[in-house]
Amino acid sequence: MTDELTPETPAEEEQPIKQRKNGLYPGVSDELAANMKSGWADTELRELEPIEQAPNAARRRAALSARFPGERLVIPAGNLKTRSNDTEYSFRASTEYVYLTGDQTDDSVLVLEPRADAADGHEETIYRLPRSNRENGEFWLNGMGELWVGRRHSLAESEALLGVPCKDIRELADVLKEATGPVRVVRGHDAGIETALTDKITAERDEELRVFLSEARAVKDAFEIGELQKAVDSTVRGFEDVVKVLDKAEATSERYIEGTFFLRARVEGNDVGYGSICAAGPHATTLHWVRNNGQVRSGDLLLLDAGVETNTLYTADVTRTLPINGRYSDLQRKIYDAVYEAQEAGIAAVKPGAAFRDFHDASQRVLTEKLVEWGLVEGPVERVLELGLQRRWTLHGTGHMLGLDVHDCAAARTEAYVNGTLEPGMVLTVEPGLYFQADDLTVPEEYRGIGVRIEDDLLVTEDGNRNLSAALPRRSDEVEAWMAGLTK
Ligand code: GLY
Ligand code: MN
Ligand code: MN
Repeated sequence: MTDELTPETPAEEEQPIKQRKNGLYPGVSDELAANMKSGWADTELRELEPIEQAPNAARRRAALSARFPGERLVIPAGNLKTRSNDTEYSFRASTEYVYLTGDQTDDSVLVLEPRADAADGHEETIYRLPRSNRENGEFWLNGMGELWVGRRHSLAESEALLGVPCKDIRELADVLKEATGPVRVVRGHDAGIETALTDKITAERDEELRVFLSEARAVKDAFEIGELQKAVDSTVRGFEDVVKVLDKAEATSERYIEGTFFLRARVEGNDVGYGSICAAGPHATTLHWVRNNGQVRSGDLLLLDAGVETNTLYTADVTRTLPINGRYSDLQRKIYDAVYEAQEAGIAAVKPGAAFRDFHDASQRVLTEKLVEWGLVEGPVERVLELGLQRRWTLHGTGHMLGLDVHDCAAARTEAYVNGTLEPGMVLTVEPGLYFQADDLTVPEEYRGIGVRIEDDLLVTEDGNRNLSAALPRRSDEVEAWMAGLTK
C-alpha cells in the first residue's frame, strides 16, 4: 500500500481498460482490504426479459452481416471523454452501436466475426466490462469500479437483455491482434480499438461500413417511430414549460429557457438531442445560437429550436418562433406568416415517391416569392431561384433526416439521400426560415435583427405524411392563442 493520497489500483494484469482517479484517497490497511472482499449479497439478476428493441437490432445485424460476408466488423460504443482533470462528459454511446444492439454502455464493442464458411454469416459478440471484481478490490479501489460508477450488468445479464453473447472487453485486444482476414471498424468512437487494428484497416473500407449503417437507418421501423413520437411529445411539453416562464427569462436571460427545456428533457428522456437554440431578438439570425446568454425582451421574438432525446436516444428537432410578449407585431407577423406559408408548401411535398429535394424547392419558392414581393430582391422569381439569391436570407436547407442523430443518416451517399426518393417510414424535418441579420444594410432597418424558423418532424406514410409535432401550434394566430392559454 502506498502512502500517497491517490487511488489504490489492483494488480497490473487485472486492471480494466481504463483507470480513473477519484480525487484524494487514503491508504488501505490489509485488514480493511480483506474486510472489503466479503459480506456482499449475490445480486445476480436471473429472470431478465430481452429489451423491447432486441428483435429489431437482430434484424439490423443480419442485414449488416449480409452486406459484408466474410469480413470482421467492429462497432464500438465509445469511451468516456475527459471534461477536465478527472471528470468526464456525460456519456452518449455511438449511434451505430446503439442502432445495432439497443445498448448504450460505455467501453462496449460489438464484433461480427465471419464464420468459417462465409455463407454462414457471422458470430456476434459484445465485448464489455463485466461486474467489478471484489476479490482484488477493483470494485472500490478503481475509479471505474461499480462502487464509484454504479452497478453494471453481468455478462450473463447483458446476454439475456440484448440477445447477443457477451465477453469481457479485456479479451478483445488479443482477439483483434490475432485476427486475420478483412476487418472494418466504425471510426471516431474508440481510439484504442482503431490503434489495435491500425495495420488491418483502411479509411476507405471503413467509410463503406459507416455509409451502409447511415443509409440503413433512413427507413424507421415501428419501434423507432414510436420513440420519435415520444421524443416529440416530450418536446411539446418542454415548449409549454418555456412559454410559462418567459417572464422569468425576461428577468434573467436566455439561459432560463435553456434550463427549463433541459429539465423536461432530463426528467422525461435522456438529454437534449442537441444544444438547445434559445435565441431571443437578433440572436435568432444566428443559426446555431447555443451560447444562450442574451437578454429576453418584450416585443422581440424568441426562436426556440430544441428537442428531447428519449432514453433510447431518438431525438426530436422542433422550432417555434414566439412573440415574447404574446403578440406578433405587424412586421413580425408578415415575416412569420411567409415562413408558415413556405412550411405548408414544404409539408405538402412530403410524400412517398417524391424527390427528397421537392419539399426544399417548394419552400424556397414561396420564400423567394415573398422576398421579391417585399422588394428585397429584384425579380423575376425564376431568376432569383436560378442564381440562389434568396439564400442571403434563407441560409440553410429546408430539412434533414431525423432519428438517433438529429442530422440522421449524414454519411449516406448523395444519390441515396439528397438526390434520393422519399419512402414510407422515413422521418424528416421541414424547417424553412428567413433571417435578416442585424447588420444587413440591404434590407430596410425595421427588418434587421428578425429571424423566423418553423420546424416540424414529419413521418412519410403510405399516402402522404404525418406531422409528429402537430400538437404544437404553428399558425401565427394559433400560436398567440396557445401562449395566452398557457400564461393566463
Ligand atoms: N437543430 C438543428 C437543426 O434544426 O437542424
Ligand atoms: Mn433540423
Ligand atoms: Mn432544429
